[in-house]
Amino acid sequence: AKVKEVQFIGSSIRPKDCPKDERPEFAMLGRSNVGKSSLINSLVRKKEVALTSKKPGKTQLINHFLVNRSWYLVDLPGYGFANAPESARMDWSSFTKGYFLNRESLVSILLLVDASVPPQKIDLDCANWIGRNNLPMTIVFTKCDKMKNKKGNRPDENIKSFQELIKESYKIYPPWIMTSSVTGLGRDELLLHMSQLRNY
Ligand code: GTP
Ligand code: MG
Repeated sequence: AKVKEVQFIGSSIRPKDCPKDERPEFAMLGRSNVGKSSLINSLVRKKEVALTSKKPGKTQLINHFLVNRSWYLVDLPGYGFANAPESARMDWSSFTKGYFLNRESLVSILLLVDASVPPQKIDLDCANWIGRNNLPMTIVFTKCDKMKNKKGNRPDENIKSFQELIKESYKIYPPWIMTSSVTGLGRDELLLHMSQLRNY
């Protein structure tokens, strides 16, 4: 599961403008600032193939990155960022319907969840929605390098509570992985996991 090459293919405003070549793809879903763009850079070992920022709301379009000329990583705008300018905000209900429910080449959603904070309602709602719709998902816990937040919760405790809170929505518990774009934790495991899903 080695990344030899990555190409930025383009940005789409609407799901129907996305590439139509049907190569398998994995979509990064998660709150603004959770580390979606950073994870793409970490996976492909490039500093800024996907643009990142300390400020939430950086990614505003559907961005396709072609890996090894054979499969896509898709960077998406984050949800839950109330202060984004109107133009930057996506219509999430039509987006989720139009993309997640109809994109046949979508192998799995990668739902990114910040492991450095306790479970957030908006992430739980999102995970439950995915579960109820029987969509394939892998939970990618991010920022696992941050050992403790201000309240003293550790990533493993936050992860455990998160999983406890969503299990009702799943017939089969989704695969999950702990990552850090700072230390590279989970990088190789996630690449291997995606290669297994592609060859399934
Ligand atoms: P939007 O594009 O706004 O939806 O955000 P995003 O999810 O793409 O987040 P982005 O990758 O831009 O990262 C947001 C901030 O979190 C940046 O300051 C990153 O450096 C930081 N960050 C991302 N991943 C990690 C991580 O694993 N550990 C730590 N400590 N910080 C991280
Ligand atoms: Mg981003």
